[in-house]
Amino acid sequence: MATMAIPMETTKTMRAVVRRRWGRPHDVVELDEVARPTPKDDEVLVRVRASSVNRADYYALGGVAVLMRPMIGGFLRPKDEHVGGDFAGIAEAVGKDVTDVQPGDEVYGVRTGAFAQYVSAKLAVARKPANVSFEEAAAVPTAGLTALEAVRDHGRLQPGQRVLVNGASGGVGSFAVQLAKALDAGHVTAVCSARNVERARSLGADAVLDYAQEDYTRSGEHYDLIVDVAGSHSWRQNLRVLERGGTLVLAGLPSGNHFTGPLGRLGQLWLTSRIGRGRRLVFFVCKPNRANLATLRDLIEDGKVRPPVDRVYPLTEIAAALDAMGEGHTQGKLVVRID
Ligand SMILES: NC(=O)c1ccc[n+]([C@@H]2O[C@H](COP(=O)([O-])OP(=O)(O)OC[C@H]3O[C@@H](n4cnc5c(N)ncnc54)[C@H](OP(=O)(O)O)[C@@H]3O)[C@@H](O)[C@H]2O)c1
Repeated sequence: MATMAIPMETTKTMRAVVRRRWGRPHDVVELDEVARPTPKDDEVLVRVRASSVNRADYYALGGVAVLMRPMIGGFLRPKDEHVGGDFAGIAEAVGKDVTDVQPGDEVYGVRTGAFAQYVSAKLAVARKPANVSFEEAAAVPTAGLTALEAVRDHGRLQPGQRVLVNGASGGVGSFAVQLAKALDAGHVTAVCSARNVERARSLGADAVLDYAQEDYTRSGEHYDLIVDVAGSHSWRQNLRVLERGGTLVLAGLPSGNHFTGPLGRLGQLWLTSRIGRGRRLVFFVCKPNRANLATLRDLIEDGKVRPPVDRVYPLTEIAAALDAMGEGHTQGKLVVRID
């Protein structure tokens, strides 16, 4: 049977960042012309104005943490060439089953392939906070949703409790400090390096520890909830400062070695945490959704949380932004502007 070729002029295309093999940012990411996504009935086609970089985007390149490649998808080469997750932009078209977003709405959310001019989002897309720019809104989704789950859901924070955030100056940590205060923690201690002490105070921390000078597990203080983004201490060390009934929510881990990446450390912590002495260790993978995006939007519009933008890169400098994320000392969020 004869097949008919689609004329080039009817195929809509867009500029997008892709990677077609595993490797480090500068070796594998390229800006290419690819097919524009078509929204399904339950999807929103978004014209992306800004995106932001997360550690997951760096790991997804597969240049480090080789063992994670099959989890990302593909072994010899990635199955999906698209990269990026967070987006903020304008809804261009809306599937017939979508009721809460209209074409023309300013939206934000999470969908693989967000380092592109268009993304078709399904589960995690919601109206963006009205009082912030696209660049600020793009800084929110993954880091904010992770911090919200860590503090509210897995940490089960109760008003008046004492909280410590280890790794308080990066994307997730900056949101965790603000969210703990917004959800009525009694006292929040932020752990970060010396250059970030003032930053952590401005996010609302009641006390700040410089991790190069002071080991929080030797501070003599006790906490109901530790949100750990850095994964720098063992379970036994954390037990010294966790109240009975308290929880360590492990959101992040050190990058680890080239082969296992963060997985080696995760296995070690999980095994040792079997001995909990009345304390819990929770590790989780964030599940982005509309309801939590709406909660973050309300908190931002109420002025209780502000997006912590560190630096804005043009899309053409995406490799530099990913390299900076891989170094692990970001202050707040790295945003990518998509013109
Ligand atoms: N579970 C999930 O679903 C989920 C979702 C998102 C992210 N994550 C994970 O969460 C982690 C953080 O992500 P992120 O986006 O916030 O990364 P990030 O922006 O790079 O922040 C990491 C922060 O950790 C700090 N840090 C480094 N070594 C430290 C130490 N020894 N003690 C205390 N703080 C230290 C750094 O601050 P200094 O510059 O001051 O050292 C940096 O600000 C990553 O491991 C990521 O994979 C997990």
